[in-house]
Amino acid sequence: MTQAAIAQPLSAEDIFAPQTQKSGMDRLRIVGGQRLNGTIEVSGAKNAALPLMCATLLSEDALQFTNMPTELGDIRTLVAVLQKLGTRAAYREDGVLVLQTKEITSLRAPYDLVRKMRASVLVLGPMLARNGEAEVSLPGGCAIGTRPIDLHLDGLKAMGAEIKLNEGYVKATAKDGLKGAHITFPKVSVGATENLMMAATLAKGETILENAAMEPEIVDLGDCLIAMGAKIEGLGTATIKITGVDKLHGCVHDVIADRIEAGTWMIGVCLTGGTLRLEKMRLDHLNSLIGPLKEAGLEIEEDGDAVICHRNGKPLIGTDIMTEPFPGFATDLQAQFMTMLTLCQGAGMVTETIFENRFMHVPELNRMGADIRTHGNSAIIRGVEKLTGAEVMATDLRASVALVLAALVAEGTTIVNRIYHLDRGYENIVEKLQAVGANIERIGPAA
Ligand code: EPZ
Repeated sequence: MTQAAIAQPLSAEDIFAPQTQKSGMDRLRIVGGQRLNGTIEVSGAKNAALPLMCATLLSEDALQFTNMPTELGDIRTLVAVLQKLGTRAAYREDGVLVLQTKEITSLRAPYDLVRKMRASVLVLGPMLARNGEAEVSLPGGCAIGTRPIDLHLDGLKAMGAEIKLNEGYVKATAKDGLKGAHITFPKVSVGATENLMMAATLAKGETILENAAMEPEIVDLGDCLIAMGAKIEGLGTATIKITGVDKLHGCVHDVIADRIEAGTWMIGVCLTGGTLRLEKMRLDHLNSLIGPLKEAGLEIEEDGDAVICHRNGKPLIGTDIMTEPFPGFATDLQAQFMTMLTLCQGAGMVTETIFENRFMHVPELNRMGADIRTHGNSAIIRGVEKLTGAEVMATDLRASVALVLAALVAEGTTIVNRIYHLDRGYENIVEKLQAVGANIERIGPAA
């Protein structure tokens, strides 16, 4: 995409064409027992795409994104939030998502959209930086935890913003603009790092973020901001330095591959057997998963920008994991890894240190014949001979896909209810799994 293409104003027909929304109450029917064999192209990362899209609020020029997972529910919800704020969106035939916010025409990110997708809170920093004012609904909790945003708000206060909470909304103002600050996070927060890094790009002076998150999605956002003209050093380390500039311009940015989707399929083939070739993924984003998977019995080799995974022909061996901020074991892969442990020889222990309630998949897996006991934020998983199909309920995005993995290897048929959770984070999951041999289909709501 040439720089000239960036300057093109959006034409009327470019406006975002709403995709065929899938019905929220659809279900999945899965018959277990099929090995996974073939190639899956990993989509662009949801958790990189969401903050990247909020960066449009920082500039009046167009941002053009390639490899954007535009089929995902969360992406469509965030486009709707941004359009309410004045962003124009276009999904070009060549797959490029174009976002342009010539001016922010509304300062209010409404509750009915923010509650659907917490990441909407990431409009706060950019709106404050661009306009000096923002009103965003408190996102509220979700299935996996209370999900407070105190670290976001404390950081913005340190940068000179005045924060008021009123009727469930955060009203933030910085009449004289934001100023650089030295902020040390008491705990690592992906969202707070992203919000404050974006806010700091247009603040007066220098901002230092200590104990910052180091996830690949943070680096991807930082790379895009630098391409827009921001001055940022230390991406991927715990200390990020941002020197404010007056203005940011447009750019073209390629969204990184989704390491959580890739990790999900690696765990899947470990369970079902077979050989998967995963394309457009970065193995170096999954170092903390590779070790435990190899210990369990998966063979992994790189082939250019693809990764080939297959079982080593021996029984799966149980192992222990503890979730931690990157580069530790990703909390978003905890449920999927636990599913694999249910069929391992021996026992494994899973400790969840990031979220306070991220074991909702446990009772559903036990209904399929697993033997999992939880003690606070740890779970002991004792391997069983087999899982059996059952009717199960999806509760959150990653718990849902953990149930899909269990169904792929269970004896008999599984019905997974409430798969709208899945449609939020896994692009074309049915088609991708059918293409590698899974017996899976999307069926309508229960009669
Ligand atoms: C991001 O959520 C991801 N979401 C999550 O993925 C992921 O699990 C999480 O990072 C951890 O890696 C997106 O990127 C859109 P945090 P985020 O701020 O930013 C507490 C998925 O399935 N905290 O790093 O909300 C918080 O409660 C989702 O794709 C505060 O106490 O996570 C949690 O216990 C789920 N105060 C811990 O920090 C705050 O102000 C880490 O949260 C912010 C967070």
